[in-house]
Amino acid sequence: MKILVTGGCGFIGSNFIRSLLARRPDVSLVNLDALTYAGNPANLRSVENDPRYAFVRGDITDAALLDRLFTEHAFDAVVNYAAETHVDRSILDPDVFLRTNVMGTHRLLEAAKKFGVKKFVQISTDEVYGEVLEGEAKEDHPFAPRSPYSASKAAADHLCRAYAETYGLPVVVTHGANMYGPYHYPEKVIPLFITNLMEGKKVPLYGEGAQIREWMHIEDHARAIELILEKGNGGDVYNIGTGERFSNLELTRKILAAMEKGEEHIERVKDRAGHDARYALDARRLRALGWAPSISFNDGLRQTIAWYRENEAWWKPIKSGEYIAYYKTQYHDR
Ligand code: DAU
Repeated sequence: MKILVTGGCGFIGSNFIRSLLARRPDVSLVNLDALTYAGNPANLRSVENDPRYAFVRGDITDAALLDRLFTEHAFDAVVNYAAETHVDRSILDPDVFLRTNVMGTHRLLEAAKKFGVKKFVQISTDEVYGEVLEGEAKEDHPFAPRSPYSASKAAADHLCRAYAETYGLPVVVTHGANMYGPYHYPEKVIPLFITNLMEGKKVPLYGEGAQIREWMHIEDHARAIELILEKGNGGDVYNIGTGERFSNLELTRKILAAMEKGEEHIERVKDRAGHDARYALDARRLRALGWAPSISFNDGLRQTIAWYRENEAWWKPIKSGEYIAYYKTQYHDR
């Protein structure tokens, strides 16, 4: 099977590529990545000489490039990880979110339609459902995005569903919970807090820390996508979640405890604008397909902290340059 993976140099895309190549000898893939601030070729050092892997630097909005790649490689499947993903950045500057997440997905869908791919997996998010104040969102839960980021992902998901209905394109959309693990860009809460504590800094907790998130280890997500690639049908939608939900304050306390630090390291800062209070997914449809999470949050967190301790050479250079420029516009630069 020949796959186009987009955004494969980011956190979840690179993890998927490493896992898939390790588990599936029958797969070869092309990784198309624009190498924006969040894309890091170092995430794929371990596979870059694998003959089943090829890297192309480019943008998913570039229709001519897509045309050339699809002609050259006759892909069986597309997995679209390419996206702008950070909610706080979308609040500061929504433009690029619409360009990449909406127009980029549209261009990919067009290419997939033209070249007749057999499967298109759109990696999306639980944030399209908006805040789920009670119970759990099933796959038919109405969309109610509340940030420019989630609105752009929701728009792309609507397009995917439309291409499945209108053109019969075999598109599967996934709505994933919050992920964590090695190679996570340290603007997101877990790697930011771990690396801040390693640097002797405080951790900036937004507001009261009462918002609830559902957490999943990145390896469990990779296995879910592999299964969906194999067994999902065109038009299907899957939630990918674990049921492991904590408030941000509880999460912060878990990180502090695992790193043997006290609560004096918490710095309460201004809340995020339009901050979603709670996400919660009903993932029974995916479980019925044969998936279950295999890494508990407590084990995964310990493993993740150990990885950041052993890989300072990966994250230290990231926390400079563009990163600092971004944080100067945020609450954390103290
Ligand atoms: O739910 C899935 C989503 O999870 C993905 O679709 C997004 O791409 C991904 O960025 C993530 O979104 P969140 O906004 O939930 O993740 P983030 O790590 O930015 O924040 C998690 C929670 O922690 C959120 O309630 C805000 C809070 N937070 C975050 C940061 C960066 C803080 O309290 N302090 C911080 O410094």
